[in-house]
Amino acid sequence: MNHTFTYHRNRIVHVLYKHILKPIFFRCDPELIHERMTGVGAWLGRYSFSRSLTRGMFSYENPILEQKVLGLDFKNPIGLAAGFDKNAQLIDILPSVGFGFAEVGSITGEKCEGNPKPRLWRLPKSQSLVVYYGLMNDGCDAISQRLQVKLNGGKFSIPIGASVAMTNCKENLDVDNAVRDFAKAFRIMEPIGSYITVNISCPNAQGGQPFVAPDKLNYLFDVLDKIPTKKPVFIKLSPDLSHDELDAILAVSRSHRIQGIICTNLTKKRDNPKISDAGVPVKGGLSGKVVQSLADEMLGYIYKKEAGRFILIGCGGVFTAEDAYRKIRLGATLVELITGMIYEGPQVVSEINRGLVELLRKDGFTNISQAIGADFC
Ligand SMILES: Cc1cc2nc3c(=O)[nH]c(=O)nc-3n(C[C@H](O)[C@H](O)[C@H](O)COP(=O)(O)O)c2cc1C
Repeated sequence: MNHTFTYHRNRIVHVLYKHILKPIFFRCDPELIHERMTGVGAWLGRYSFSRSLTRGMFSYENPILEQKVLGLDFKNPIGLAAGFDKNAQLIDILPSVGFGFAEVGSITGEKCEGNPKPRLWRLPKSQSLVVYYGLMNDGCDAISQRLQVKLNGGKFSIPIGASVAMTNCKENLDVDNAVRDFAKAFRIMEPIGSYITVNISCPNAQGGQPFVAPDKLNYLFDVLDKIPTKKPVFIKLSPDLSHDELDAILAVSRSHRIQGIICTNLTKKRDNPKISDAGVPVKGGLSGKVVQSLADEMLGYIYKKEAGRFILIGCGGVFTAEDAYRKIRLGATLVELITGMIYEGPQVVSEINRGLVELLRKDGFTNISQAIGADFC
């Protein structure tokens, strides 16, 4: 798709989103809009004409952005983070929106209703969301069946990661139960996902984040290691970890088959100077601009410390090509987002990819992989 055409097309879509759709959406309940948009996306993905139309409105491709990572082909580095497509209803439309990959879930061993409503809020001044869904999803059995029929020759048209987590229920306050539940979700999703992410950082489960403790994480990974897989395994971390906690998690991860790390999930901290809105709900984790610098700091820290041992996925506060490029230069091979798309509109995906091509060329790179960790060279 032509670079200049994409620029003008994206500007038009952005203006329409900012001045028409967003004011309407932002007047309605955020969870209701999330549900409705998932329904629209699922419908658009069902027919070839609507997929082609969506591709014409949103896609952008450039060979500079292509990479092979852990045996998977990525047309571009921008992925949909876990939590937007919780039940894997959107995978037919996401490639047409311009995503290079997507993560579905988080998916738990058992179907989970999540926390009571309300459980999603916008913080417009902070360009953030407060999320208290509590791992609402249809469970691994239903979601694996939904995805199974979409596998074409054993593959999806873009890599689809399966984010797995423990079911949010009181039984999982017991660590043995939580590990069994995690293992069930991992075992069921392993044949389906292009890669598997072990989400140990959900801020909204009744059991908290027990697997931040190194002995419990080691126990979890011992059990997961016994499930045969050739698929890449990632873990997703909280931005609220201290360096000591992070070092301990990295040490445990090194001794298991973890190949990648996603930095980061939502932050729970309320003393963040990036919060400009009053009356922030006490429950839930914060996304977007509020988590951006915490996630960037952790990304750079791990990249420097681990010197390429793990593939890093940068996530948190990506709204522009500059945000994505900063994460890549700090060590991210791939980048994920949700909140940027909600605040800026779905054209943000191709606009980030288009902008990345400009930034890479300006710095003399001929492929995106050359820019990974460039800040530390
Ligand atoms: C509505 C919503 C639901 C989320 N649910 C999950 C989830 O189920 N599992 C997960 O690992 N992360 C979840 N997250 C966290 C995101 O994947 C991501 O780590 C975080 O939002 C930071 O990225 P962003 O600033 O681009 O939104 C959720 C985020 C949002 C906004």
